[in-house]
Amino acid sequence: MPPFSTTSAWRSLLEHRDALAGTQLSRMWSDDPLRGEALTFACAGLAADFSKQLLDARTLALLAALARERGLPAAIDRLFSGEPVNVTEKRAALHTALRGDEHAMVDGTDVRPGLQRSHERMRVFAEAVRAGQWKGATGLAFTHVLALGIGGSSLGPRLVIEALRGEADGPEVRFIANIDAAEFDDAIAGLDPATTLVAVASKTFTTQETMVNAIAAREWISAALGDAALARHFIASTANVPAAAQWGLPECNIFPFADWVGGRYSLWSSVGLPIVIAVGMARFERLLAGAHAVDLQFRSDPLERNVPALMGLVGVWNRNALGFPSHAVLSYASRLEHLPAYLQQLEMESNGKRVAEDGSALDFSTCPVVWGGTQTPGQHAFHQWLHQGTDIASCDFIVVAQSMGERTIHHEILLSHACAQSEALMNGVDKGDPHRDCPGNRPSTTLVLPRLDAYCLGALLACYEHKVFTQATVWGIDPFDQFGVELGKAIAAEILPAVRGANVPLHPASRHLLDVIRKLAAGA
Ligand code: F6P
Repeated sequence: MPPFSTTSAWRSLLEHRDALAGTQLSRMWSDDPLRGEALTFACAGLAADFSKQLLDARTLALLAALARERGLPAAIDRLFSGEPVNVTEKRAALHTALRGDEHAMVDGTDVRPGLQRSHERMRVFAEAVRAGQWKGATGLAFTHVLALGIGGSSLGPRLVIEALRGEADGPEVRFIANIDAAEFDDAIAGLDPATTLVAVASKTFTTQETMVNAIAAREWISAALGDAALARHFIASTANVPAAAQWGLPECNIFPFADWVGGRYSLWSSVGLPIVIAVGMARFERLLAGAHAVDLQFRSDPLERNVPALMGLVGVWNRNALGFPSHAVLSYASRLEHLPAYLQQLEMESNGKRVAEDGSALDFSTCPVVWGGTQTPGQHAFHQWLHQGTDIASCDFIVVAQSMGERTIHHEILLSHACAQSEALMNGVDKGDPHRDCPGNRPSTTLVLPRLDAYCLGALLACYEHKVFTQATVWGIDPFDQFGVELGKAIAAEILPAVRGANVPLHPASRHLLDVIRKLAAGA
């Protein structure tokens, strides 16, 4: 398929951009005080307010036309029908089947019965742990879960458990992702091996960080309780059952998921088991239901008011028509602290690509840098850059309508800041003093969740997943592979023997750097 930049819809969009050039957002509002209603759309109970973006209703119509010219409706059908949309790895990306109730076919087989069985196994096991029926080797109930995994095998469960912290009524879950001894030590500090369940999540069951942490956890459990305790204290979520079995886990401790579930789309699968243990299956099912509601709307809403598609298309507008290099996610909810990290993997690992599906080089920009934080603390840190820096970031404000605690005054102030920041970015201020002036005209979308509960969170995450798919379709890239992460892993494997003192050939730059590190380690 030729690049999107050669389509007639894109040419129309560029002409439209040029016609809009110089029009201030503040002017768009004074010309059309109803633009708020016209540019706010609903999806699964969430509201997406695009009225502070540098666009108008015609822009959305032209973006929808671009999506049609790029075949988005047919691509959505292929995604949901289990076709091998991951073209480079020749497999489906059917994570949506994990949260839906329709028949889902992969290679001519209906995968729903298998999904229902694994869902039921998760429920039974998690309930047994929560009820203290699945006990540790000494007969004590589990009070803690150590969740080992990295990337998609950690970020989703971590985000969800932290977001639903207020509703957690099961064992406390602690995460270890990094290959850093301090992270391991911090996570097990104060834990009793006798009351700790270790949940290893790894799609491949070969990821170095996870496997080394799993061995360390096994040693920690065995040293206290003996090798026989492993069968009570270890479970695994993986697409590589033979590897988990070879590692020493009984089959009943292994919770498989299919290889057509991508790592960064896996929180809906057995990778979500720590979520079920922490907050219960009923809440996990609400998470799935919220995501499923978005799936249904993504498949059926007209593109002109299809929230996930518009999130993607407005991103294309900001990136490719307006040239903004980064995208900030600003959550007005402390419990969404991990949202930017989750979205960094979802967006940047998916769409951080420089070639099209057919391998041809792209002559346009793809995924912007995705970053962000929780507000209001971010307002006292990096918002200065947003308001007066030389680069412009498009922003997503995430706002929760209902208070997230008993203290109403906190929530009222939080809401006032969320509204004020997007207004300030949009309008700026002219005080006649270059140091104090804010240029304004800086675009944002505000996503409003009615409540921070499992349903709304599932909906929010699914909106972002489909945003990514929409952008990949427009850009013509495969969002489901991540070959770029392999090179560094291979070089690390070559360097490790040298770190351990072996005399192996190394690039002079790495040799030099190791020497510097060694000198400092020795206190030189
Ligand atoms: O290195 C990147 C990556 O492959 C991610 O895509 C994935 O989520 C993560 O590593 C963890 O992989 P695994 O679940 O196989 O351990």
